[in-house]
Amino acid sequence: MKHNISSPFTLARRAERMNPSIIREILKVTEKPGIVSLAGGLPSADTFPVDAMREACARVLRDAPREALQYAASEGFGPLREWIAAHLATSQGMTVSPEQVLVTTGSQQGLDLAAKVLIDTDARVLVETPTYLGALQAFTPYEPRIEGLASDHEGPLPDALAAAAGGARLAYLLPNFQNPTGHVYTEARRAAVVAAAQARGLPLVEDNPYGDLWFDAPPPKSLASRWPEGVLYLGSFSKVLAPGLRLGYVVAPAALYPKLLQAKQAADLHTPIFNQRIVFDVIRSGLLETHVPKTRARYKLQRDAMQASLDKHLSGLASWARPEGGMFFWLELPDGLDAMALLPKAVEAGMAYVPGAAFYAQAPRANSLRLSFVTVPPDKIEDGVAALARVLHEAEGRA
Ligand SMILES: Cc1ncc(COP(=O)(O)O)c(C=O)c1O
Repeated sequence: MKHNISSPFTLARRAERMNPSIIREILKVTEKPGIVSLAGGLPSADTFPVDAMREACARVLRDAPREALQYAASEGFGPLREWIAAHLATSQGMTVSPEQVLVTTGSQQGLDLAAKVLIDTDARVLVETPTYLGALQAFTPYEPRIEGLASDHEGPLPDALAAAAGGARLAYLLPNFQNPTGHVYTEARRAAVVAAAQARGLPLVEDNPYGDLWFDAPPPKSLASRWPEGVLYLGSFSKVLAPGLRLGYVVAPAALYPKLLQAKQAADLHTPIFNQRIVFDVIRSGLLETHVPKTRARYKLQRDAMQASLDKHLSGLASWARPEGGMFFWLELPDGLDAMALLPKAVEAGMAYVPGAAFYAQAPRANSLRLSFVTVPPDKIEDGVAALARVLHEAEGRA
């Protein structure tokens, strides 16, 4: 515990362990005019259904103003929970009762609640290699030992999961268009991962904010559909509607639900009911059925633009897999190049990315980076990738 002479506060051990999100720190530097930032993980604001939201907002204030402005149930808005349960049945093959749905303040809150309920100091927690930085941030204050599972382009290796499962509290998994790598588990990988976890009684936390953003074909069904009693499933409206609503949800096995609910009550009593009613109003009218396909089509074009720019400027210098959905390309650079060290040069050259090292629980790989293809238009993508190529060529010349 550190004592700071200028402050009377002694920080809790968990606060000592907290770190600023490296991505948010990078964004502060890169959101200067003129920089093509491929660093952010933000959805394209051009996709937000502003008119539909404006109308829904007016309807909610007209039809249920007092209910929308009053305190509400911690579990979430009943009709929205029913909609989520029905939606998961068709989209994810899950048999879910609305009573298992806990509406959360973004799926980020779901990660915090899961950690609060399942992780003790020194408990072992398994994650993919690399994994979502925000999950590492959510888990760290609960003082676990976080272990990265050996992973390939389809996600974690089932054998690695099986070998590490004994005594671990949970494995945090991202089967669809992972942040940061864009990977998707195949059908076979899903089956093998669930079988390995189920055989050893290892709970899974399945995070699926990107699953609806597929380009050519939907990904295979969720892990939760294969083992409902052992999987905590996290969903979000951030990437299909708008992240500023802060609306997500957890689907919990019945045995775990009451504890998550108690943790939720302590955290924020409930997720803003005004937002829940607005979202329910727009989805009840069928907005997602027309809106999500438009977002998919737009992101696919952007993905193609980035793929073409990468082919043109970075062939032979970096390797990557074309993502089939989601928002990110993951680049591996030649050994010896350090994406963190090169970032200032990239910003000087007019572009920004997120160094891959930020996404590792252990043994970060310095020669990797993440690019978002959804936040800037195709001509800017080309400029950004060309600038990145100049920086890498120069560094490689010297490396
Ligand atoms: C993998 C993953 N999980 C969870 C979140 C949090 O999303 P939200 O809290 O907006 O639902 C994000 C956001 O980028 C993400 O990439």
